[in-house]
Amino acid sequence: MFVHRRRGWEIPEARVTPEAAVMRRRGVLGAAAAGALAAAGARPARAWSLFDSTPAKPVELQPLSAPRNPRYVPGRKLTAAEEAENYNNYYEFGESKSVADAAQALKVAPWTIEIAGMVKTPRTLGLDDLLRQMKLEERVYRHRCVEAWAMTVPWIGFPLADLVKLAEPLGSATYLKFTTLADPKQMPGVHKPWYPWPYTEGLTMQEAMNELAFLSVGLYGKTLPPQNGAPIRLNTPWKYGFKSAKSIVRVEFTAEQPKTFWEQLQDSEYGFWANVNPAVPHPRWSQAQERLIGTDEVVPTQIWNGYGEFVAAMYTDKTKERLFA
Ligand code: MTE
Repeated sequence: MFVHRRRGWEIPEARVTPEAAVMRRRGVLGAAAAGALAAAGARPARAWSLFDSTPAKPVELQPLSAPRNPRYVPGRKLTAAEEAENYNNYYEFGESKSVADAAQALKVAPWTIEIAGMVKTPRTLGLDDLLRQMKLEERVYRHRCVEAWAMTVPWIGFPLADLVKLAEPLGSATYLKFTTLADPKQMPGVHKPWYPWPYTEGLTMQEAMNELAFLSVGLYGKTLPPQNGAPIRLNTPWKYGFKSAKSIVRVEFTAEQPKTFWEQLQDSEYGFWANVNPAVPHPRWSQAQERLIGTDEVVPTQIWNGYGEFVAAMYTDKTKERLFA
């Protein structure tokens, strides 16, 4: 039987269409829709989306504060919250950077996380229950996307290592697989069948136990906005941003290395390790520099995104692995 399957490089249009052109096109469509609504006497609400003309009510964010951990010094100015919350990658809600409005359709509570696979007792935890057992802190991390843009964001959350300890993995568990929400009722992007939904990511157990690996539930003094991965997302600041799985619903402990969303789409461009390295170009662009969102300043990329002192030792024995792409 012959099944025509579109190949990875034919797929993510936003990645090959110059971003400015995408933004212009969406601007025109947005303006046209706003005009139509105005003509009909309706007030265009904040959350107009390309996929659904019914605006979603904006998700209410709660104030959230936690002491800043001074150990992680970003060496850069914070990105303005307005920028970090309106320039996003969240393919479940669309392929442009302007998914904030569409993402308001995400139902962030109640939320549960399944702890599955090679653990002492597989179980499902309510997020509130989980958070009662975790000590929250704020960490300012540099955040580097494989697309060569970067931000500096004050995340609020807890070390992934604390979740691993709570999960009590068996000795044979070597990897963690993160699965994120894929609900076609809330997420228009999930209707696009050429993507291998749900979005999944993976880390080795050693990476998950590294002090930098962080689960965030807030940013800039409040709970996470939906477009940033509410209500809980991963941050691994020495890796490209696509490793930072958003809206996590399941953490599975496995013996096999999980195949991630981007590996399934295009393994040659987005590998499992995805550690930041200016000297290893993406097949279609250089990684030597990065553009800071908000100021558009272009600065040199740092190996391990500048976090080598915390992470480089994990990779010294992995000489045969494709660690940087
Ligand atoms: N998680 C899910 N579920 N879906 C996504 O499309 N995009 C990834 C990552 N996590 C993505 C995701 C990519 S490509 C990046 S760069 C970061 O989220 C962006 O995070 P930010 O929008 O908070 O900057």
